[in-house]
Amino acid sequence: MGEGNWYDADIERVVVTEEQIHNKIQDLAKQIAADYVRMESVLLVGVLKGAFMFMADFARALGRLAGAVEVEFMAVSSYGQRATSSGVVRILKDLDRDIANKHVIVVEDIVDSGLTLSWLLKYLESRSAASVEVVALLRKPDAIKVNVPVKYIGFDISNEFVVGYGLDFAERYREMPYIGVLRPSVYSRV
Ligand code: XMP
Ligand code: MG
Repeated sequence: MGEGNWYDADIERVVVTEEQIHNKIQDLAKQIAADYVRMESVLLVGVLKGAFMFMADFARALGRLAGAVEVEFMAVSSYGQRATSSGVVRILKDLDRDIANKHVIVVEDIVDSGLTLSWLLKYLESRSAASVEVVALLRKPDAIKVNVPVKYIGFDISNEFVVGYGLDFAERYREMPYIGVLRPSVYSRV
């Protein structure tokens, strides 16, 4: 911290450092490479926009350890208010191709209520994937209440709004290389 990036001054507290993210991704990639050692190829499905940075780092880490890795992206949005999310999801960007018989790993930034993810898992299974698992960099406490099977987790964090490493507030802070909590004054600015 304190290298003078524009965003450092807006961050009240660092939740996960750049180094912690890097090390965790290596660990996750090792674990997943071992679990998928017999699979011919793995298809990573990133959920935009939040997962873009995690996807880039995770795909590189896995690619060095595992066999061929394919990459796809989806963009989804929940209908209505996030806080009262019904779990009904609208597809903004669908998969570009068939995933039948592929071993899919969904790459998610953060699991909160788990509603988005549980919808997505059903959707991918309905497209006849050979298997579907999830790797999520972050998990919030509410996610543990719902029964959404996230096999690979980076960090369990407290129930606060976080930004950075793909995650935004009003489309800002996505480029931050670490994850942090914003100062309250940032919210009163908008
Ligand atoms: P659910 O509740 O369906 O939603 O698991 C997960 C999605 O909610 C967003 N989300 C956040 N975005 N900081 C963010 O920038 C957060 O602290 C946060 N918590 C949830 C995110 O889009 C995630 O995919
Ligand atoms: Mg957002």
